[in-house]
Amino acid sequence: MVDVRVVDAAFDSCETDCLVVGVFSSKEIAVDVKSFDAKLGGVIAQVVKSFEGEYGQFRLIQTLGKVAPKHMLLLGLGKKEDFSLDVLRKAAGLSVKLVRDQAQLLELATTLHEIDVAKVSRADRAQVVAEGSVLGAYQYIKYRTVERQKIKVFSKVLILGKSEFNAHVAKGVSLAECSCLVRDLQNEPASNLHPKELANEAKKLEKLGVKVTVFDKKQIEKVGLTALLAVNRGSVNEPRFVIMEYRGGGKKKVALVGKGITFDSGGLDIKTAEGMLTMKEDMSGAAVVLATVKAAAELKLKVNVVGVFAATENMPGLDAYKPGDVVKTYSGKTIEIANTDAEGRVILSDALAYTEKHIKPDVMVDLATLTGACVVALGSVCAGVMGKDRKIIDQLIASGLATGERVWELPFFKEYHDQVKSEIADLRNLGIVSKEGGAITAGAFLGAFVEKTPWAHIDIAGTSWSEQDGELSRKGGTGYGVRLLINFLEALK
Ligand code: BES
Ligand code: ZN
Ligand code: ZN
Repeated sequence: MVDVRVVDAAFDSCETDCLVVGVFSSKEIAVDVKSFDAKLGGVIAQVVKSFEGEYGQFRLIQTLGKVAPKHMLLLGLGKKEDFSLDVLRKAAGLSVKLVRDQAQLLELATTLHEIDVAKVSRADRAQVVAEGSVLGAYQYIKYRTVERQKIKVFSKVLILGKSEFNAHVAKGVSLAECSCLVRDLQNEPASNLHPKELANEAKKLEKLGVKVTVFDKKQIEKVGLTALLAVNRGSVNEPRFVIMEYRGGGKKKVALVGKGITFDSGGLDIKTAEGMLTMKEDMSGAAVVLATVKAAAELKLKVNVVGVFAATENMPGLDAYKPGDVVKTYSGKTIEIANTDAEGRVILSDALAYTEKHIKPDVMVDLATLTGACVVALGSVCAGVMGKDRKIIDQLIASGLATGERVWELPFFKEYHDQVKSEIADLRNLGIVSKEGGAITAGAFLGAFVEKTPWAHIDIAGTSWSEQDGELSRKGGTGYGVRLLINFLEALK
C-alpha cells in the first residue's frame, strides 16, 4: 500500500522525487510557486506559456538540483469554474499514475489540496487527495511473475501541510484501502475465492472488534436458508452465510446486505462465454458490505452496523436447481424459478428476510450485482437505487454526489411489483414480460421479502466492474460502494 503522510515542508525543501502542481486552463498556476520558480530560474513560467492546462494535460520538468524535489509535474486541471472535490480526487489519482507511468518515479509530494474549493476545508481537501492517491495507485499484480521487479509499485505520497490534517488524511487512506480490498476480492479468480474463503476474509474483521458469525452448510440447513441452498445445489463448493456486527454506539442500527455469488455461470440457464467472462465479480455486494464494516470499525463510526452476506457459486452441476422448480425460502414464501441465472434475488430473499427477523435493523440497504438490465439502463456511471423509503433514497443520492460514487433512482410503481407474481408459487424470479424493466422487477422481487423495515436496494452491476482504466481505477473491479456507504452511515448517526 502507498504510504501517505502529511509533511510540513516548503515546496523547495521537501525531499521527494516529484512535486505536483496544478494549472488551470486559464494558465493560472493553482498554488503560489513564485519563489519556488525563482530558484528554478523561471522555468515554470516559461513552460506554462506553451501549456493550455486542459484537464489531464501534463508537463514534466527536471529541477536539476536547484531545489529538493528532483522533478516537477505540472498537471492540467481544466476550467477553474468546473473545479470540484470530485475533480480534485481524480486529479490526485491521475497525478500518481502520471508520475509512475510517465516519469517512472514512485514518490511524490502534492500541493493539489491547497486549491480552494467552495465551502470545503483544506483538511477535507487533503482527505480527498489521500483517497484519490491510494485509489489511483492500485494495481492487481498478485499473479504476475515474469519480470515482476520491473512492475512499478507506487510507494509514497507527501501531502504538504500542517499535522492538523493527519486525521483527515488517515480517513482518506482508510476509505481508499477498504475500496482496494473490495477490488482485490473482485479481481481474485473465482477458483481461488469460494464462499469459504470469502467468509474467512470476513473473519479477519474480528481483529477490529467486529463480531463475526459464519454459518457453514450444516448451520444454513438448520437455520433454514433454503433459497440459498437451492442455488448452491449445482456447485461442489459449500455455501456460507456471514454476519458481521460492529457496535459503534448510538440508537440506530443499520443492516447492509450483500450478494455473494463467487461465480455466476448462470446455472442450467447457462450464460454465453462473453456474459460469463467477468462473473467472478458477482460477489461485489458481499465484498462492499464486508469492507464497509471494516472501514466503519477502523474509523470508529458512532453507529451500529451489521453486515450480512449470503455466498455461493451458481453452477450447473448434476444436482443444480432447474427452470420450473419451486423453491421454498426462509420467509416461507415460495419462488417459481423461471431462470436459474436470476439467482442473486433468490439468495437475497433469504438474506433480507433473515436480517429483518434476527437483526431487526432500523434501516436496511442491500447491494447486488443484480441485473444486466441495470447496466443497459445506467452504464457504469452510476448505480441504480430503488425502494419506498424517501429518506434513505434521498440520503443515498446525496452521499453519492458527495463521494463521487453516484446512484440514480429507478421508479418502483405497483405495476413492476405485479410482474413478479407467479401463478404456481408466490413469486417468480423473472418478470412476466421478461425483457422489460429488468432492473426494477428484480428490485420489486426483493421488496417482497422485506416486511416493514425501511429499505433500499442498490444494483451495482454496472459500477462494480470497469473495462477501462480511469483516474481512480484500473480495468477490473472498481471497489465501488465503500465511500458511498460510509458517507451514508455518517449522515444517519
Ligand atoms: N450477475 C448477473 C447480473 C450481472 C450482469 C452482473 C452483468 C454484472 C454484470 C445476474 O445474476 C444475472 O445473470 N442476471 C440476469 C437476469 C435475467 C436472467 C433475468 C441478467 O441480467 O441477464
Ligand atoms: Zn445470474
Ligand atoms: Zn448473478
